[in-house]
Amino acid sequence: MDLTKIQTDKNNELKRSLGPVALIALGVGAVVGAGIFTMTGVAAATNTGPGLIISFVLAAIGCSLAGLCYSEFATMIPVAGSAYTYASASFGEFWGWIIGWDLILEYCVGAATVAIGWSQTLDALLSSLGVNIPASIAASPFQGGMGKGYINLPAVAIVVLVSLLLMRGIRESAGVNSVIVVLKVAVILVFVAIGWSYMQPANHTPLIPPNEGQFGRFGWSGLLAGAGVIFFAYIGFDAVSTAAQEARNPKRDLPIGIFGSLAVCTVLFILYAWVLTGIVNYRQLGVAAPLALALERIPHPWLAIAMNFAVLAGLTSVMLVMLLGQSRVFYSMARDGLLPASFAEVHPKFRTPWRCNLILMVFVALFGAFAPIGIVGKMTSIGTMFAFVLVCGGVIVLRRRHPEIERPFRTPWVPFVPVLGIVVNLLMMAGLGASNWARLLGWLVIGLIIYFGRRPGRARRAGFSALKTRSERP
Ligand code: ALA
Repeated sequence: MDLTKIQTDKNNELKRSLGPVALIALGVGAVVGAGIFTMTGVAAATNTGPGLIISFVLAAIGCSLAGLCYSEFATMIPVAGSAYTYASASFGEFWGWIIGWDLILEYCVGAATVAIGWSQTLDALLSSLGVNIPASIAASPFQGGMGKGYINLPAVAIVVLVSLLLMRGIRESAGVNSVIVVLKVAVILVFVAIGWSYMQPANHTPLIPPNEGQFGRFGWSGLLAGAGVIFFAYIGFDAVSTAAQEARNPKRDLPIGIFGSLAVCTVLFILYAWVLTGIVNYRQLGVAAPLALALERIPHPWLAIAMNFAVLAGLTSVMLVMLLGQSRVFYSMARDGLLPASFAEVHPKFRTPWRCNLILMVFVALFGAFAPIGIVGKMTSIGTMFAFVLVCGGVIVLRRRHPEIERPFRTPWVPFVPVLGIVVNLLMMAGLGASNWARLLGWLVIGLIIYFGRRPGRARRAGFSALKTRSERP
């Protein structure tokens, strides 16, 4: 699939070539990344213990409920698949801006998180080959613990590389995507198959360690907090909705793509988490590269090298999708007049919104260079859950305001399903604690200042007009 073409030619008809399997592969390709390979360890060590598998089920429920709402929007507004368009169509320009601004957390800060995970994986790979990158140039100065540094240069390097590829116009073909997906799934399955016999049953008891007197530190509140943290691992399934224009039969295949990729990932994540916490006791898992730690206990050195290579490739593809998604959202916002028109300017030769990519490159590289993974990961999660809450709310609002619009896929049991989606995602947001709420609010306040400070009266409600156009079609 040529994702660049969707980005620059979204008003043209694209070839409807994606069936259900390709859509599931697209979702799995965007989902499996830093969350599962690098963030699970800290969640097990500080929030859940072996109960991590329950947090994965909780997060999957929150995502599935939001996924039902995404499916309704994606089939109803298949011209510009993003929560930004859905929110501006449902609630108007102001909420469109809020969600567009919030999506920067999902895509930009998320890409920075994956870049830091990429740097940690590179470090693990090189150490297994006997080469050590000095921590001073491979970690953030704000990172706690042993690995403190001045700047995370490998994270900067991968952000620059991926951004240059996007500016040049990478052709993300279905073939390349499928190869990376197969690699990523194989990495997890091989780890589960070989690691199963190295599990120590004692590491799985108690399944839910008792709460240590603080909200989120083990016990039931720990499972909630853990779900908030590892929610990051599921981010990206919504990318399936952005391929609405290319689905052969969107009405049937988009929900299959969204739920198929969620189901495949949930099964993989639960198996992985069970084996990881079975091999290494959860108390020792609070490290940057938990997979590498588990692999040290398996006497097959080739396995660590092969798996780290596959993980690096997998993380790179997640970053590609995230930075591409962000530039697409900026492109739509600029086209609607919410951002300067230069954001929507397409390079005459490469046909990519290169200015967007350039600005994103600087922003994401700065985050990757100096931010600690724990904080940016949680900011990404809380921002994405907030977007899910708005998308769920959007389904209810739009059903009331415009019941006449054609909805090829209808979310079942409205308003029950969207309300439950809102509740579950708000609960997981609550699990992330006051400091992350403060960061989200701070981010939204900056967004509001920019919104009210810019020149008024230029914005069009493009998302809304897209809806009307569709409903007025003969
Ligand atoms: N779900 C993606 C990851 O874990 C964002 O890297």
